[in-house]
Amino acid sequence: IMSSVEFAKRVAAVKAVDEYVKDNYKIGVGSGSTIVYAVERLAQRVKDENLHIVCVPTSYQARQLIVNHKLQLGDLDMYPKLDCAIDGADEVDANMTLIKGGGGCLTQEKIVASCAKQLIIVGDESKESHKLGEKYKKGIPVEVIPMAYCPVQQKIEALYGGVAELRMGKMKAGPLVTDNGNFILDWKFPASDFDWASVNTVIKMIPGVVETGLFVNMVTKVFYGTADGTVKEQK
Ligand code: A5P
Repeated sequence: IMSSVEFAKRVAAVKAVDEYVKDNYKIGVGSGSTIVYAVERLAQRVKDENLHIVCVPTSYQARQLIVNHKLQLGDLDMYPKLDCAIDGADEVDANMTLIKGGGGCLTQEKIVASCAKQLIIVGDESKESHKLGEKYKKGIPVEVIPMAYCPVQQKIEALYGGVAELRMGKMKAGPLVTDNGNFILDWKFPASDFDWASVNTVIKMIPGVVETGLFVNMVTKVFYGTADGTVKEQK
């Protein structure tokens, strides 16, 4: 038995894999809970159709998924050009600007997406919004070098307002540590009409910032699954 949200995530993931993955593709594999269904579908198609695909992970989680499903694991050293990347998102606005990094994997996700001809986003319909912040309330994740987190926090708040909170570990005491050994600030931004391309550039230029969870002008298509099994598309 599957909850309606999980069912919605799965129909979106299945449709994305079926429409965008072709034989001999090099594929970026995203992180999060929705991507699990995409990897299951990839494994099924490899078995049923004898597809030859290579999967490049965006996190340790994605790497484990690829290995556990016996898919061919690759990296950007071997495959710096990918045919597509499939990933989840925390929120998608009307311009297909994304907030990503709720799961802490934003930096590798953005690197892998930047190497892909097409970025395909999958999620349930709760991810769709008009304006960022309308749906996802935890703020924009910013990965930072640990010794720089205080100055980066202060600079983001001075530039744009809001609060940039240090993300704490769940099972671990102290700050959460990313797959890259860094910290994450979740910037709870004030309600305002931000130019996200500019915000992304300005934050990224603060010394100590590794990457932001803002994905601007990167997305090819979004698949939103619904509880009735239909899939809504945005492009
Ligand atoms: C991981 O760092 C995130 O960017 C995920 O892609 C995002 O949180 C989506 O995850 P779900 O599919 O679990 O919503």
